[in-house]
Amino acid sequence: MSPQPIGVAVIGAGMAGRAHCAGYRSAPTLFDPPLPPLDHVAVVDADAGVAADAATRYGYRRSGTDWRELLTADDVHVVSVVVANALHREIVEALLAAGKHVLCEKPLADTLENANAMVEAAAAHPELVTGTGFVYRRQPAVAAIRNLVAEQLGTVSHFNGRYWCDYANSPLTPMAWRYRGGPGTGALNDIGSHLIDLAEFVCGPMESVSGAAFTTLIRERFVAKGTTYGHSRAELTDEKQAVENDDVATFTAHFASGAVGTFSISRIAPGHANSLAFDVFGQHGAAKWDMDRPAEFSVLRNAADDASAALNGYNQVLVGPAHPYLKGGVPMDFPGVSYGVGDLFGFQARAFLEQVAGIEGGLPPVASFADGVRDLTIIDAVTRSAATGGSTITLPAHP
Ligand SMILES: NC(=O)c1ccc[n+]([C@@H]2O[C@H](COP(=O)([O-])OP(=O)(O)OC[C@H]3O[C@@H](n4cnc5c(N)ncnc54)[C@H](O)[C@@H]3O)[C@@H](O)[C@H]2O)c1
Repeated sequence: MSPQPIGVAVIGAGMAGRAHCAGYRSAPTLFDPPLPPLDHVAVVDADAGVAADAATRYGYRRSGTDWRELLTADDVHVVSVVVANALHREIVEALLAAGKHVLCEKPLADTLENANAMVEAAAAHPELVTGTGFVYRRQPAVAAIRNLVAEQLGTVSHFNGRYWCDYANSPLTPMAWRYRGGPGTGALNDIGSHLIDLAEFVCGPMESVSGAAFTTLIRERFVAKGTTYGHSRAELTDEKQAVENDDVATFTAHFASGAVGTFSISRIAPGHANSLAFDVFGQHGAAKWDMDRPAEFSVLRNAADDASAALNGYNQVLVGPAHPYLKGGVPMDFPGVSYGVGDLFGFQARAFLEQVAGIEGGLPPVASFADGVRDLTIIDAVTRSAATGGSTITLPAHP
């Protein structure tokens, strides 16, 4: 008898929701051993047309507008929650109570309080798998640098990271959920959440944050005539609403290892569409990566002697099957064959489904809800530092 298929559904079919829909499509084609059969059951979105379009494009059997219908759907076992952050808690708690495995997008919630409640809800259901969508942990080059830091670069002195985007730079980018919520829920929560997670992923836990500063340049935005998705433009009304959160956030950090961190986050950086990048400096060398050139990274190993110092410098490394995720992770896994963010959602979906299916020894597990809370703990501390003129805020140990 063939095993029962794992039934998959996605709530929210906007910018990132479609990446989840596609991720569950590609997941069974990647890596070994084969996954149990998947049943692509449903896409749910508040906009019926958007849900139906995504279901058709990505081959899901049905679509709907009410996520509550999934609670009683016996053919749905795994659900991705890919809607505005302020909606995560209610939906995730209901899904867990209904016995569904939940992969929730980052940041885990809009506030630390809500994220903590979600961890409690998950703890009440240890039989269910939960995860937070820190998809950039799946970047092969980032995972390779993490290994280099652990094994070759020696004690790290400095992590310098930035996540610069320009999606909010135009005053004609319409009002949307991303611009609502208090200080810290803007660029810091939206894209800084990824950078903070990567910093600890590569360098280990932070101990404190300080020197935080926020600014908001565009203080009002026009309300759109219809629904908006992602960072898309739309036809605008004459009505303007106040932007409630940060366009730019900067801060510094101390890591438990003794390293320091410098962080720069902006959603109004002209010329930087989606520019996540970092440098890490260790005692024996350095490494750097920039998502503008995702399939390569640079590494420097200190010269062993004066003769080799004459040719010392960063090596450009083209990511290939010798690095994490690539062997079996793209259809043509040959050196120099590149990959994109869409592939990472396939790796993430595959990892989550391995956890659900109980496959051991495969991909690293998806970031946990605890990792999601950790991220929001740091975001909350950065926000408190900014509110108090940049004071130092000590972080709890990462459990
Ligand atoms: N991991 C990543 O790289 C990444 C990238 C972008 C967004 N995200 C995260 O994904 C989530 C969604 O962001 P987005 O940019 O896709 O947003 P979006 O605005 O593009 O899409 C949100 C979708 O949710 C739908 N929706 C709203 N209320 C709903 C409800 N009650 N029930 C069902 N659907 C509803 C909207 O119609 C819309 O289609 C956020 O948590 C965001 O932080 C993650």
